[in-house]
Amino acid sequence: MKIKIDASGDQFLQAELKLLSAIQKESKTGKIASIDHWSDKGLKEEFYNLKTASKFTAGKDETLSFTGAMGETVIVIGLGDKTKYSAEHLRKSFAKVFKPNRTKFETIAINIDGFNTVKDEARAAQLIAESAYLCDYEFNKYKSKKSDAKTGTLIIAGVDKKNVSKIEKALVSTKNICESIDTIKDFVNEAPNFLHSEEYAKRVEADVKKNLKGVKVKILNKAQIQKEKMGMLLSVNAGSAYEPRIVHLTYEPSKSNKNTKHVALVGKGITFDTGGYSLKPGASMAGMKNDMGGSATVYGAFRAAVLEKAPIKITCILAMTDNAVNEFATVPDSIVTARNGKTVEILNTDAEGRLILGDALDYACDQNPDYIIDAATLTGACLVALGNQVCGILGNDQKWIEQILSAAKNQDEYMWQLPIIEEWRQDIKSKVADLKNIGTPMRAGTAIGAAFLEEFIKNDIKWAHLDVAGVVDSQSHLPYCTGHGASGLIVRTLTHLLVNGK
Ligand code: BES
Ligand code: MN
Ligand code: ZN
Repeated sequence: MKIKIDASGDQFLQAELKLLSAIQKESKTGKIASIDHWSDKGLKEEFYNLKTASKFTAGKDETLSFTGAMGETVIVIGLGDKTKYSAEHLRKSFAKVFKPNRTKFETIAINIDGFNTVKDEARAAQLIAESAYLCDYEFNKYKSKKSDAKTGTLIIAGVDKKNVSKIEKALVSTKNICESIDTIKDFVNEAPNFLHSEEYAKRVEADVKKNLKGVKVKILNKAQIQKEKMGMLLSVNAGSAYEPRIVHLTYEPSKSNKNTKHVALVGKGITFDTGGYSLKPGASMAGMKNDMGGSATVYGAFRAAVLEKAPIKITCILAMTDNAVNEFATVPDSIVTARNGKTVEILNTDAEGRLILGDALDYACDQNPDYIIDAATLTGACLVALGNQVCGILGNDQKWIEQILSAAKNQDEYMWQLPIIEEWRQDIKSKVADLKNIGTPMRAGTAIGAAFLEEFIKNDIKWAHLDVAGVVDSQSHLPYCTGHGASGLIVRTLTHLLVNGK
């Protein structure tokens, strides 16, 4: 899909599909649609001549379509009460119209005039572009019949000439972020028989080499992971046909000194979670290819932040293995030693995410970051607590958590904090080892997972944990996401946090 900016109105005139907005107003007779802001006089006249126009009240997401005098299709999108119109509403209402039409027309033009609620054309253009890019994603690699209809050109029209360069800049950054989201959606959607740990590491490395100049890549293989004494990661990998991997990426901004802030991102990359010997029942096992979604999320943010030349140093650590069963797989009751020296009784091999992340977090701390964020599809309990729509956040530093929460709010991505209390820290103490990998069954599962991870943070590093178990896929309530498969959510939040601090 190409996106073009049209300040003259010429491209708008020629477009096969024209999208315009109407504002809802109160009149003596009730609610009516106002299109006073349309600059195209011809279209205005055509609209007023429509018999159906009088019934159209421009309510939120109410649409009216008609054929224009040049044979083009015109869709008018109701904004409802304009004072309540938000950025997320723009993403959504545009997506609802754009998605079903994107391959039907070669040129789709949107006049951003009335959509510009914040009086900032660059922001409006960027929201439209973001929604369009997100709608344009498809995972059809394994379909033998692929549709040959391609998304045409999107023209963002009705912009002021003096804003063009600002809009162009905003669109470059939107593209960087959305292409990174596409990249990780492909990783998450890929089938686990292809995307095992060794392959996943290779694909990330190939993507870095191709797209992220200056980023250092280090990949630890099994022997190196043994040397690192990552006993917990190795215990999860014990039942696998593939070697584990730690992918270690480093980015440094061009102007960097000893005061440059350093953020480490850490991600759970379980390429498939069978549960291990604590085997998942069939119905809960399906979908567990998404269990590398946390690593994909942080990689997506890392990728976009590098393309956006973030002013901070960023380390990205991805821990990869599947959680499978063979005769060597770890059995429950096993005791292993973590990289940081703590001994862990593994009472449930299905609580594997915290094991691989614990070692990865300890390794991340050794890179001396000021801040850490990890992302993981860690607990089913997060879905019970916060549903499919809300990302859980927990951590050891309230200011850092609040900074991330506010970044999420700025991107309209739902995130909610859960507490870690002393009692739950006690709940993971083992009778026979330092720690056990589960707490009281059916109690505060998400926080217990986080309390376990906290045991592997050292040197008072400020740390936040994102439980993305719910949000990583199937966002059917968001018209700019596919109803099934990878969502790509939280990449926007983390990218803006890394690039602008908010
Ligand atoms: N990968 C799962 C968590 C999960 C469940 C993610 C559903 C997405 C959807 C994780 O490894 C797991 O199995 N967690 C267990 C922990 C329990 C054994 C303490 C769970 O949530 O049941
Ligand atoms: Mn599991
Ligand atoms: Zn898992």
